[in-house]
Amino acid sequence: MTNISSEGTQIEIGSLSDSSLSEVLGLYKGNNIIIVVDENTHDLCLEYLITSFPALEKSEIILLPNGEENKVMEVCMQVWNAFSEYGFGRKDLVLNLGGGMVTDMGGFLASVFKRGMDFIHVPTSLLAMVDAAVGGKNGIDLGPYKNQLGTIIKAKNVFIDAAFLQTLPEKEFYNGYAEMLKYGLVYDEALFNELSSFKTEDDFNRLDIIEKCVQIKVDISDGDLFEKGERKLLNFGHTFGHAIEGFKLQTEPISHGHAVGIGMCAECYVSMTRGLLSKDDFHKIQALLIKTYPFLTFTEECIQAIISLMYNDKKNEGGKIFCVLLQAIGKGSYHNELSEKEIREALLHISLLSESLN
Ligand SMILES: NC(=O)c1ccc[n+]([C@@H]2O[C@H](COP(=O)([O-])OP(=O)(O)OC[C@H]3O[C@@H](n4cnc5c(N)ncnc54)[C@H](O)[C@@H]3O)[C@@H](O)[C@H]2O)c1
Repeated sequence: MTNISSEGTQIEIGSLSDSSLSEVLGLYKGNNIIIVVDENTHDLCLEYLITSFPALEKSEIILLPNGEENKVMEVCMQVWNAFSEYGFGRKDLVLNLGGGMVTDMGGFLASVFKRGMDFIHVPTSLLAMVDAAVGGKNGIDLGPYKNQLGTIIKAKNVFIDAAFLQTLPEKEFYNGYAEMLKYGLVYDEALFNELSSFKTEDDFNRLDIIEKCVQIKVDISDGDLFEKGERKLLNFGHTFGHAIEGFKLQTEPISHGHAVGIGMCAECYVSMTRGLLSKDDFHKIQALLIKTYPFLTFTEECIQAIISLMYNDKKNEGGKIFCVLLQAIGKGSYHNELSEKEIREALLHISLLSESLN
């Protein structure tokens, strides 16, 4: 069992049966424990959790519909109404069992209800393990705009047990992989090199790499919980990525990791054209991203729509669009203003690459 201490949160990585979950549940004896799941984690993860911890047998289960399109206020309202009907209160505990959709939304549900209930995360997707469950950002989407409503309040505990990854569909690993690559690219060249050499599915289950990613997220986010400075680095790939994801959400949704994979290439392209990132490093990164994430073609109309979405990015300041750029592999820089021309050129570059491969 590895313990990672993060201000306000205890993170444990290893088998749940060796963790302190039993003791944590004991703190809520006599109170309700509410387990939030989506349809998949209900069917594939809940039994393992409940059979390991008898204290959970009488828990109330809140079932969310699967998918990012359900990370919305309408679903929250239904859940809060159910919380009220059951008479849940501030001394109760919410346990979020799922991927980033469940941890983001479950954290938001708990942190807002009756001005805040305690909540803990048991992430079940690679993305949630290495990123979403750590760092205190909870939230939901507002139409095509990602994570526009939310709170920054940390889970009391995070229990990361790689056993849950056994049922995770292969394509979902690439979502987590995008966020892992992000850590390597902005912060840790050795991690990027290690991730670049991933070959088999087993590589994704490597606890040492999961631990390294969690530690980076904690190191960066602990010192800057409200994202005034260094934490902005973790938005690498997300200025383009969120807008692409939001744009596609209206027609044919693509996964968060897929959008971030393309977004990282676009932001590397801007870094290279500004002379910050060397051409060699750019081509090394681009080659890895293009073989991992199918690139998309953007018409002029799409580009315009994506730029409009970028103007509503929550990281903007004074109506200007900012993004993270790379100075080298392992060295990100934040607070770089982006021009519309650069955005258009980067999306056209992605389109050309995509067309050349089809
Ligand atoms: N809060 C943060 O700091 C942060 C950081 C990164 C991403 N996010 C958010 O995370 C979300 C994406 O997370 P995600 O990729 O985990 O999405 P997700 O939660 O939708 O999970 C992806 C799919 O995998 C299924 N699944 C999860 N665990 C499973 C398991 N063990 N076995 C079988 N199926 C399983 C889910 O039901 C879903 O169908 C996005 O909403 C993104 O905005 C938040």
